[in-house]
Amino acid sequence: MPVDRCICHNITFVKLKRLANEKGLKSIDEIRENGLASSKCKLCEPYIKTLLKTGETSFKPGLFSKKRSE
Ligand code: FES
Repeated sequence: MPVDRCICHNITFVKLKRLANEKGLKSIDEIRENGLASSKCKLCEPYIKTLLKTGETSFKPGLFSKKRSE
């Protein structure tokens, strides 16, 4: 299953992208200030940052998970 939403705010990245465009939101901070996404667990943060940069709305699971160094 791809990563395609902020689970905590129950909003898909497709919808988030549309709302961010409509409201002219260009940063993760602006998205948080508007209460749209990413103000709780923040696991979605790197995905939303990439969405803002590239417009992508669906990602491979674990794409941004940290690798263990041990
Ligand atoms: S998944 Fe976005 S804040 Fe938790």
